[in-house]
Amino acid sequence: MSTRRTILIVSADDLIWEPITADLKDIGWSVELIHEAHPGATRSQSDDVSCAVVSDGDLGDCVRDFLASFGVMPPIPVVAVVRDSDVSTTVDAMRLGAFTVIENKGDNVHNAVLGAIERAVPLGGAPIKGDPRDLLIRSHDSPLNTMLDVIPQIAKSDAPVLVTGESGTGKELFARTIHNLSPRADGPFIPVNCAAIPDQLLESELFGYVKGAFTGAHADRDGQFQAADGGTIFLDEIGEMPLQMQVKLLRVLQDKMVTPVGSTKPKAVDFRVVAATNRNLENEVKEGTFREDLFYRLSVLPMHIPPLRERPTDIPVLIDAFMAEQNRVNQTQLSGVTRETLKVMQNYEWPGNVRELQNIMERVAILKRVGFVELEDLPERFFGDHPPPPQMGLYVPSEGMDMAEALSKLETNLLKQALQKADGNKAQAARLLGLNRTTLVEKVKRLKLDED
Ligand SMILES: Nc1ncnc2c1ncn2[C@@H]1O[C@H](COP(=O)(O)OP(=O)(O)OP(=O)(O)O)[C@@H](O)[C@H]1O
Ligand SMILES: [Mg+2]
Repeated sequence: MSTRRTILIVSADDLIWEPITADLKDIGWSVELIHEAHPGATRSQSDDVSCAVVSDGDLGDCVRDFLASFGVMPPIPVVAVVRDSDVSTTVDAMRLGAFTVIENKGDNVHNAVLGAIERAVPLGGAPIKGDPRDLLIRSHDSPLNTMLDVIPQIAKSDAPVLVTGESGTGKELFARTIHNLSPRADGPFIPVNCAAIPDQLLESELFGYVKGAFTGAHADRDGQFQAADGGTIFLDEIGEMPLQMQVKLLRVLQDKMVTPVGSTKPKAVDFRVVAATNRNLENEVKEGTFREDLFYRLSVLPMHIPPLRERPTDIPVLIDAFMAEQNRVNQTQLSGVTRETLKVMQNYEWPGNVRELQNIMERVAILKRVGFVELEDLPERFFGDHPPPPQMGLYVPSEGMDMAEALSKLETNLLKQALQKADGNKAQAARLLGLNRTTLVEKVKRLKLDED
């Protein structure tokens, strides 16, 4: 977790940095501006510098001097802004450890620098909510936090809880957490998916049966309620329960007595019920498909989990948690997501909510294995009609890299995108890339892109 919060700007030229500095401050950065005249000053920076932006002014080689002053590699990402990005300047800056190189063409600098900083500065994790037993629920500064605050109270009570929320929002996780924090924690937690059990079997599944109750009932059998004795029964997808079962369930909740199918002797069972649904039960009540009395009985303690798209501040902590999980389970070394990737993730709709995010992190871990998650690692649905912008800044890992290979990959990637956009029309693809048609054709041939 990083506490660094300063961007260091090294430049002789104050003017162009004023608006960039203002923007950086707006999004919470401190900015330290020093002048290029003394490259030695760069060594005395405060400890909390997260990223440096260094710009070649009129005096020339500021970028080079700055990068070279670190010896092998700068300890922080360095965004280099050069007057003239001919190949040798760029290659030089990259070789000396620049995170990315931007050519100063006036208008473009502002956005290019802000974008580069976003990519360069890895996300710091946010603190995980406190009680050791609810460590599983990750949330940071979102509507979920107020819910987490009341969970211990809810857990202490024995009243029914109704957890609602879209698919994948964490209803079962909340139910388990309530159980784990309750005085019943040492007792069983019995999940029952009401949607998965055929109507005619649901009663015997829930309440058990006695020998001879129906063909095939060769011996007495306990149901899930009896199994939950001393613990919690989790009635998942309660909205799917048929009406005639709802009547029986209501009676069981009121009497705390369970009558097995075929028996006339109710048995006392000590259970607590947590129910969940992704349906809107109030509407179902209005439509007559869910009993009003059962609805009120179950929703003594209602908990609605908002969809992930309504709590974007939870996304970074969830990413951290799932990434750590993947790194542990799959022996991968993912280090974070770039800022621009996070931004796209925070603007995405998340129809599958937290489960979808978990699946994506698993997919990325398998495909990528090492490094920062970038835009191109996200599935296409994240971009709607707009494909991800090409990755311009390449991260130089401390163990070194093959720059020629990286640049060739970048080239291939851009060529492929342009060809795709142009539906294979080479003249148009060349226009998109600012190349001559013949240059593009040559490159396509050399990189064997025609064969795809
Ligand atoms: N706040 C959270 N912190 C950490 N993990 C979470 C969080 N919310 C959900 N998860 C994880 O996301 C996955 C989906 O959660 P869960 O199964 O509880 O959702 P659900 O609402 O029951 O979904 P469904 O309606 O599809 O049954 C689980 O692996 C769960 O552990
Ligand atoms: Mg569930």
